[in-house]
Amino acid sequence: MEGHNPQDPTQQVESARKAFEQEFGRFARFTDTSTEVRLTLGEAIEEQRTLQELRTRHLGKKSALAAAKKMIGRVEPDARSAFGQLVQRNEAEIVQAIDQVEQRLGGYLERLRNERESIDVTLPGRRPRLGHRHPITLVRERIEDIFVALGYAIEDDREIETDFYNFDALNIPQSHPARAAQDTFYTLDGFALRSQTSTVQIHAMQRRGAPVRMIAPGRVFRRDTPDPTHNPMFFQVEGLCVDKGITMAHLKGTVAEFLRRMFGPSTITRFRPSYFPFTEPSAEFDFSCFKCGGKGCRICKYSGWIELGGSGMVHPNVLRAVGVDPERFSGFAFGLGIDRMCALMYGLDDIRLLFENDVRFLEQFS
Ligand code: FA5
Repeated sequence: MEGHNPQDPTQQVESARKAFEQEFGRFARFTDTSTEVRLTLGEAIEEQRTLQELRTRHLGKKSALAAAKKMIGRVEPDARSAFGQLVQRNEAEIVQAIDQVEQRLGGYLERLRNERESIDVTLPGRRPRLGHRHPITLVRERIEDIFVALGYAIEDDREIETDFYNFDALNIPQSHPARAAQDTFYTLDGFALRSQTSTVQIHAMQRRGAPVRMIAPGRVFRRDTPDPTHNPMFFQVEGLCVDKGITMAHLKGTVAEFLRRMFGPSTITRFRPSYFPFTEPSAEFDFSCFKCGGKGCRICKYSGWIELGGSGMVHPNVLRAVGVDPERFSGFAFGLGIDRMCALMYGLDDIRLLFENDVRFLEQFS
């Protein structure tokens, strides 16, 4: 075995060792425990990867050391033992050097990860921001509570309707302007977005038959141009009571009692004759202003009265449309808009504010 022969196995082991030492140089700082390692988490992960590559290159199957091991058997017998020991010594040294760095880096990484995940339990907690119900929901729930206490069921029904529920069954003639596309929103396949909650009268009677007592709060749609008292989408509550011997007196008593519970025991209700295709006779109802008690103020526009909704005795044609015999049963129905009522109660001069979804505005009504 000649020292300068490039084929000389000892020489090969030596140069492999030199190559390792050179590449390992950058990791030397990790072997000196007196110096502190300062790396970011990303840098430390990168170092770990590079070290792994170094291990594969110098100890792996294709490494010079692996080739040298294969050569041991081919070395002349008298030099074999010394060569074998040289290879082993080299391997042990490389393994030890890499293991040492790997351990230090591993420990360092674990510390960094723990630090990142640790929580300072002495910090004050972050309070989740609590939401609250929308003012329309608050008013709707008050209305529901009053009618549930009076023995009414609450109905919830669909917002998209066929002509039958939106118009025909409600005794609305073909020529009625409400059917026109400039008043009602239609889908391309001919369904209508309900323009009043009166549609639920029909569903409720079909489902429950008579007698029935229910209210139906819900969203309705009209092609109204938005202004301080109009929105194209708003909320109504429908009321329906059908039984034997129901008269206009029951309607007046029920609406008056509802308004007293809503606005205070001294609230006065008045009915004015009106017209709705699905009630006969029909009446609109107003109540004495809850702010001024009827003397006249800004809220009631100095009239002393606030207009609220429509009502009347269910038209016999409506009862017939759902298979209820108008000779045996009679009933009353009423409907009112929640948005305007909500605006009055909270002193808003524009109902559009209710749907602008400005949290700063809505927050005032929790
Ligand atoms: C009706 O919708 C009838 N269905 C009421 C009814 C029910 C009568 C049962 C008889 C028997 P009217 O179209 O007047 O009636 O609407 C009732 C209420 O909805 C109004 O008093 C008003 O408060 C509200 N309203 C109507 N249009 C709008 C709108 N564009 N924006 C906000 N509120 C509205």
